[in-house]
Formats: sequence, structure tokens, C-alpha cells
Amino acid sequence: MKDKQSQWLNPVIEAKIDALLGQMTLLEKAGQLTQLGASIVGGFDFNAFLENPDPEMLKNVRRDFHEDWIKQGTVGSYLGVQGAEEINRLQKIALEESRLGIPLIFGLDVIHGYRTIFPIPLAEVCSWEPELARKTAEVAAREAAAAGLHWTFAPMMDIARDARWGRIAEGAGEDPCLGSAFAAARVRGFQGDDLTDPQHMAACAKHYIGYGAAVAGRDYNTVEMALQTLHEVYLPPFAAAVDAGVATFMSAFNDLNGVPTSANRYTLTEVLRDRLGFNGFVVSDSNSIGELVMHGYASDRKDAGKKALLAGVDMDMVTESFRFDIPELVEAGVVPLNVVDTAVRRILRVKFMLGLFDQPYRSNSAIETAAQLRPDHLELAREAARRSIVLLKNEAGILPLNKTLKTIAVIGPLADSPADMLGSWSFTGSAQDAVSILSGIQSATGAEVLYAQGCAADGKQPADFSEAVEIAKKSDVVIAVVGETARMSGEAASRQDIGLPGHQEALLKAIWQTGVPLVVVLSNGRPLALPWVAQNAGAVLETWQLGVQAGPAVADVLFGAFNPAGKLAATFPYAVGQVPIYYNRPLTGRPASDFWFTSKYLDGPVEPLYPFGFGLSYTQFAYSDLIVTPGAETITIQAAITNTGSLAGEEVVQLYLRDVTASRVRPIKELKGFQKILLAPGESRTVTFILNVADIGFYDPEMNYVVEPGLFNVWVGTNSAEGLQGEFWINH
Ligand code: BGC
Repeated sequence: MKDKQSQWLNPVIEAKIDALLGQMTLLEKAGQLTQLGASIVGGFDFNAFLENPDPEMLKNVRRDFHEDWIKQGTVGSYLGVQGAEEINRLQKIALEESRLGIPLIFGLDVIHGYRTIFPIPLAEVCSWEPELARKTAEVAAREAAAAGLHWTFAPMMDIARDARWGRIAEGAGEDPCLGSAFAAARVRGFQGDDLTDPQHMAACAKHYIGYGAAVAGRDYNTVEMALQTLHEVYLPPFAAAVDAGVATFMSAFNDLNGVPTSANRYTLTEVLRDRLGFNGFVVSDSNSIGELVMHGYASDRKDAGKKALLAGVDMDMVTESFRFDIPELVEAGVVPLNVVDTAVRRILRVKFMLGLFDQPYRSNSAIETAAQLRPDHLELAREAARRSIVLLKNEAGILPLNKTLKTIAVIGPLADSPADMLGSWSFTGSAQDAVSILSGIQSATGAEVLYAQGCAADGKQPADFSEAVEIAKKSDVVIAVVGETARMSGEAASRQDIGLPGHQEALLKAIWQTGVPLVVVLSNGRPLALPWVAQNAGAVLETWQLGVQAGPAVADVLFGAFNPAGKLAATFPYAVGQVPIYYNRPLTGRPASDFWFTSKYLDGPVEPLYPFGFGLSYTQFAYSDLIVTPGAETITIQAAITNTGSLAGEEVVQLYLRDVTASRVRPIKELKGFQKILLAPGESRTVTFILNVADIGFYDPEMNYVVEPGLFNVWVGTNSAEGLQGEFWINH
């Protein structure tokens, strides 16, 4: 399990680090622990701002790189510098003008593509194809590394069960098994097999930990959870990232059960180092060290720096506490020097692993230009986009659209909005590179395409649907493209109402009244609660924010060039009042029934609108012949899947498990495996899952992983709510 991490302990590199540490002054050591932002680098009294957060003060922020610090050797890393030329210029200063010539490490948020923007991470997970995510991360790394960057603050692997939280867009959804597979794949994609390869970059497992469980879905809010939940649900993707050899971790903004995660010794040291065996370094989130003061967990910046470093944070992103306060704290005997040395060692280790000492200039402008938006990158973007699409409804086979249609109305605020196709964290991309859904449709069909925006996405202007209704009446079908703008999800983008924003549902109702068949194409960054749409639209296609090739990918699915096979990675609630809602909830003593005193709502269903794992195809699949064969160490589970429709199609076969009686209340179901298979019409295939007995347990109160003897239920099915059910016994 720790193989990948033990590769990080190379004796030759460790000896070089020893030699460097022997020469470094305390200030130079503190410098290695310091990451500066390209914009906020000085002229800013952080403590004063915390006491009185006056936006006017931000105007005094100096926007230089503090090159004098590079020369002094008192900065180790930058965030937000872009372009090979600029990065090489700063690197040259570090190498040639600082005393020890230690290279800088440059990091940036390359989340779902650099210039070639791929689907948002949540969308891509709906492919249930980790290998696809590995490929897109690899291309993102190739473009970003060509732009001089060494390190991405990705993948984000926060489990999220609350769609109000805007950052659900950046992760892998609600499930630890699926999330772990994608976390590992993305790490492998960014990092490749060898970090010295200048086409790859160091990855960062973030945000460690629990950040996605912000109470009420409000970003940066407090997090409270049982330690078992932490270990069983929130930790597995991070553990998978460690096993995949991830180079860095990012501590989060939130507190966890009262201790901020950027100063949490239990999570940062006992779990991450002692249990998981992580050997890279931990960077704080942006100013999350400074924010320990706002949390009321530290009295001032110095106290914050001390607490973060002692807990296990190695690099300080932009607070500058490590640079200014740590030397004083060491001299005062408050922080032991060996703690500083350990943190410096971890950072130098990653710099050595990247080969920065031997090859500090990893790119140049010519390489940078040639690497962006290559045809093969765009082809992958289209492939990833269409594989991310989830077909939620298809009444009477309205999709794929009939090739004989004469007139198609394309309506809605997201139809002709290339910028919104990019989603959040796409600032390195350009709206000009993106193909809108309208233009994708226009290029794919010979039919006449009429277009009306219908209304704005945010409802800020009064709505007038007359043009939209008029073109709908002239058409054989309406494709309504509705949802959220790119800014409505992502960081600091929580929403209280997760229906369609503004007047969009009213627009849909006005179009629907014409009686013309209605296909709703959703473009959004989170699960939405849209019971009216689910009830009334003829077809519903969840397309998320698909990146630069959104238009062609959506058209491929609408017109049948591609048979959709995506499955939801997060539950779609019926109403916002159901959230947090997730399929793997613990069993209640009073499950919902017709009896009054059971776990339900007076004013709406208890079941979600669409369950986790749900997604349709243009063909149909039948499940049969479940066979469960228990063994001493493994359980073999097999089922036959048959394509009973008339088109070739892919199906994600899902395996779920329940521990029926245990010493702790267990989830209704837990995903334990999945396989995506392609079947020709009429073709049947037996899918085999092998479960390790050692992996079907849970954590006891002392956080030991235990497998208890007894009865287990298994399901093999097409989503988390359906499937063939079997059982087996574990006897010890
Ligand atoms: C975000 C991180 C990001 C960092 C640097 C923070 O606000 O929470 O995800 O990596 O900024 O841009």
C-alpha cells in the first residue's frame, strides 16, 4: 500500500537534502516554507485586515513578485504566476542570485484543463471511467507544464452530499468508492510515472479534510462528523491519492469538530503521516493559516503559524506567517528546529523529485505555444464531454432526434453561452475556444435551427418569453438549454435554492404549453432539484459544464452519433429541503412507510428525484443470473447483463453491499465496485466482481478497521436504487 510513497524516500535525494539543510540559515529555511501569491505579496497588514476587514485596504496590495525575497532565499514557491517566460525569469533569479540557488516551485489551480478545458470534475466522474480522468489530467498537465508550471492544486477529492455547496462541481460527488478511483486516476494523470518528465506535474490532494461537509452547504462553514464517518466516507479518496503517490496535500479552510483542519494534528500528522504514510508536503489553503485567527483558534498571525506548523502544515500559502514568525518562534524555543527541518525536507524532497535542481527550466515559450489546444487534446475534450453526459429521461424515445426533423428551436440562456460551458476554475482557458451548444447543434443538423435566448439565467431582468414561444410553435421539437452560469457553482458559490435559477422554469412552462415536444438540456455545476422538469419534459439530458467541446458533444448525443452512458455521481434531490441527501445513508429504525411515525416528510417524497448511479441509454439492459460464491478471503459475485434494445450501448454495472447486522449502524447500501461494458444489440455478458473480505468492514470506536461475521446483502444493478439482490455469510 505504501509502495508509491516509499519511492519518495530515495537515499541519494535524502543525502542531498541533508547537505542543503546543513548550509541553510533559519531565514532561508522559513523561506522554503513560504508560498507567495503573484498578486498579494506585500503592502498588506493582514492582522489589521482581520480586525477590520475593509475592502479599501485591498487596494493597497502590491502586485509585484517580491524579487528581493527570491534573492534573499526567503521564498520557496509562487502561486498564480503564469507563462513559461515569466516563470523562467523568476527561477533564474532564484538560481543565480540567491545564496544557495534552490529552485522555486510554481503552482496553479489547473483543475479541469489548462487551455483545453475539459468537463468539470463532477461531470467527468459521471463517465464512471477513471481512465478517462487519467487521460484528461495528463493533457492538462502537459499544457500547464509547457506553460512552465510544476504543480497543480488538484485533484479536489472532497466528498459532497449537499448540492447547495458550490464546490461539489470540483469533486467526484458523494461516493467514497467512486471518488477514490477518480482521485487515484487523476493523480496518476497529472504526475505520470516520473515527475522529472517535463510534461507532468506534482498533484495536490485537496482539501484535507471534510471541507465538503460544510453545515448547510455554506462554503467555509463549520464541519462536524463522527470520526467513523471521517474514516469511512471522507478519507478514502485521500488515502487512494497517497497510495497513487501524490506529491502534496492541501489542508482546508474548515474546522473539523472544533479544530481547524489547517492546524489539526490528528488529521495532518496522526492520520496522514502515521497511518497513511504520506511522504510529500502539505500546503495550507490560501490564507487558511491566517484565518485561524478568525476561527478564534489562534490569537494572532504568529500564534496561527505556530499552531499550523506544529500540527503538520509544511508550506504557508500567502499568510506569510511561516516566513516572518517561524524564525522568531524557533529562536524563542517555542517551535523546535527539527519541526522546521522536517517541513523543509519534505518540500525539498518534492523539488528534487520534480528534478528542479537538474532541470530548473522545464519549458519555454515555443514549447508552451505548441502544447496548447492540440487537435488530439480537442478530440479528447469531445470524447470526455460526451462520456460525461447523463440521460435522465427519454419518454417515447424522443431522443435521439429524428433525422427527418425540419425545424428545431433552440431556446434558453445557456444555449449560446460559450463562457458558461467552461464552468468554474477555468481562468486559464478562453471562452473563444469553447463551442456553444447552439453552434454544436447547428453544425450537426441539416434542419433549420431557430434560436431565442428566452430569458437571462439569473432572473435579474424581467422576462419576456414571446419570441421563444413563437419559434417553438414553428418547430418540430424544442431543445431548451437551461441551468446555471459558470459563476453559480465553484468556490464561494453556495445556493439556498437549487432549482433552475431566475425565470428559467417559467420559460420552460411557457414553451411546454405550445405542445411541441420538449427536450431539456441541463448545463449546471451541481445536482438540481427540478421535479417539474422531470415530470413534464419529454427528455432530459444532464450535460453539466462540458468544457471547450460542449457543443459538439451535446450534438453527438442529441442526434445519436453517441449513445449516452453516464450515471450520476451525486443524488438529485426532489426538493432542496431533502439535502443533505445521499444513497449510502445509515439505516433508520423507522424507515418511511404509510405509518405516521416514520422517517419522512409531510410535504414531499422521501426518495430523491434521481438516485446516485442513475442514467439511461438509448438501448435497454436486462440483469439476470446473479450468483454469489463466498470464499474464505474473497467473495465472487456474478451477473449476466443483456442488451435487449436495438442499439449498441455501454452500461455501468454497479455492485452494492449491506452489512445486515453489525455492532454499528451501517449504510443501507455501499458501492463496492463498478464495471463499464459495451454490448452489441442482443449481446449478453457475465460480469464478475471479486470482493476482498478484508475490505467489507468498518471502523470501530478506536478507529480500527473490523470485519464482523454475519449476513451481508449484495446487489448488482443499473443504479443505487435497483438491482438483483443476493446474500452471503461471513464466518470467522
Ligand atoms: C481554494 C483552493 C485553491 C487556492 C489557490 C483557495 O481559495 O480553496 O482550492 O487551490 O485558493 O488558488
